[in-house]
Amino acid sequence: MIPQSFIQDLLNRLDIVDVVDRYVPLKKAGANYVACCPFHSEKSPSFSVSPTKQFYHCFGCGAHGSAIGFVMEHQGLGFVEAVEELARSVGLTVPKEDSGRYERKAEGDFEALSEAMQLATHYYRDELKRSEAAIAYLKKRGLSGEIAARFGIGYAPGGWQNLAAPFPDYQSKTLVQAGLVIEGEGKRYDRFRDRIMFPILNQKGAVIGFGGRVLETGEPKYLNSPETPLFEKGRELYGLFQARQAIRAAGKVLVVEGYMDVVALAQHGVEYAVATLGTATTPVHVQKLLRQSDNVVFCFDGDTAGRKAAWRALENSLALVGDEKSIRFLFLPQGEDPDSYVRKEGKAAFEAQLEAALPLSEFLLRELAAGVDMKTLEGRAHFLKLAQPLVQQVAAPALRLMLQQKLAELSGISRNELDGLMPVKSAVKPTAAPSRVSRKPLQSLVRKLLQSLLSQPSLGVDFDMRLAGGDSDEARTLSALLDFIARHPESRSTSGILEYFRGSRHEALLSAVSGEIMQWSEDFEVMAEFAGALEQLKNSGRQRQIESLLALSRTQGLSVEEKRELQRLLQGGSAATKSDQAAQS
Ligand code: UTP
Ligand code: MN
Repeated sequence: MIPQSFIQDLLNRLDIVDVVDRYVPLKKAGANYVACCPFHSEKSPSFSVSPTKQFYHCFGCGAHGSAIGFVMEHQGLGFVEAVEELARSVGLTVPKEDSGRYERKAEGDFEALSEAMQLATHYYRDELKRSEAAIAYLKKRGLSGEIAARFGIGYAPGGWQNLAAPFPDYQSKTLVQAGLVIEGEGKRYDRFRDRIMFPILNQKGAVIGFGGRVLETGEPKYLNSPETPLFEKGRELYGLFQARQAIRAAGKVLVVEGYMDVVALAQHGVEYAVATLGTATTPVHVQKLLRQSDNVVFCFDGDTAGRKAAWRALENSLALVGDEKSIRFLFLPQGEDPDSYVRKEGKAAFEAQLEAALPLSEFLLRELAAGVDMKTLEGRAHFLKLAQPLVQQVAAPALRLMLQQKLAELSGISRNELDGLMPVKSAVKPTAAPSRVSRKPLQSLVRKLLQSLLSQPSLGVDFDMRLAGGDSDEARTLSALLDFIARHPESRSTSGILEYFRGSRHEALLSAVSGEIMQWSEDFEVMAEFAGALEQLKNSGRQRQIESLLALSRTQGLSVEEKRELQRLLQGGSAATKSDQAAQS
């Protein structure tokens, strides 16, 4: 048997969007991702994947489940095989046997690393409050406390072993693995010293790395976390977690080069910017970006380095851009970066620049033409030679066709002649608009609670268990669910819960409920729904208590306490709560 804790670790490490996308290309639609369902045949997509719930659901055929469930169904694998396949994909080894408890391999200890990063983030944030120099630096760069908080910016004080304060076990291997501490010649010391700290979050909002900037001058200007089991530079985008909503609202995502650019733009109201982490734009980045929005604008410095970086981004975009997508390039005036530009010129001027960004096709042709002498035959031949491999990579059929048209025009040959030079390869790319279903059957209170809790498990943390009694299937599942939530703080996610109850007698019901919550519209207010259902439950509990006390009074009379309780209930007090009891004892 595979230990449950391993399953939960695995789910924490996976992003179901990446997993499904490997088999079924997904397209962003609001908060979710959609595709035509792989489990039944359909023309318009009703298959939806939720990044926050880490869960998929098909409105057409009702198929649904976690990343593990998806791989099982899609690849026709058994549970163990699916877990093994997914574990491999993130570099984990499935523990061979269940020796009572799952001993985590030090290397794959995602949870411990994650906790360490979170603790460090809190520590750095607290230290920022205490450092006048660091606060003054951020102020000088025009940042408000609000923006600093939004990005979780902190400060690592000078000194060699400051982290020994938040981490009493400073010798722990975890600190080295997390990249927080460096081990050299028997001595350990903090990696980040006297630096402004920028936490890097993954798409789920967990801190996976840091960038640390020197306060004034010094080398290196930015020190970054090393690659760890949590953190792979080429996959991550700084600020994406914070920018998600703004990206949706603006209908575009802006890619800049620096941490400070993202933060300064947000400070000036341009909240849809993200940054690569001091690396070139990778295909993974481009894929991630195109999933966020149909409009991607890369913004680079106007210097040679900027143009080079832009070219890399272009090369890595060609095979990924579809005809419904737009990728553009903005080059700022020499010597400016988005941070300096927006501070000097303001939001409106910056956004005007954005509007005028160069489409990918124009940037491509312009750069190629700039490298040759287009006035000579040889130059134009060279131009074609350079363009050929790039244009052939373009996955968007219409765009490719038009690029070919343009190439022919620019080099003074006919389309037919060009086609002779560049045989056409075909590319596929079907996409369609998502459909949203809204159905709302009558539901029991307990069912509503189950839905809210499965959607947002942390709501169950302070739940008064006595309200969860009852002998219906739903009530029993509610009790089991609340018990799980209380005992497994590390697994408070929809998919984690479903995997935990896989194979139990609660599985079928929870699975049905998970299908229901996937049909909620995006603006569904889970907290309000939960609070409402809870209130009703308390009321009906009170009603039941009143009735039974009244019945008792008719048959055998009430004790003093019972009378008092009845009075309280009749006056509208809720059934005795935990805090009432605490107050009485
Ligand atoms: P920049 O040098 O353009 O930094 O590097 P910046 O963001 O404008 O910083 P400020 O305005 O001087 O504070 C762009 C990005 O390259 C990476 C960082 O991710 C940085 O944000 N970088 C840069 C490093 O990783 N290390 C360095 O030493 C410098
Ligand atoms: Mn800068």
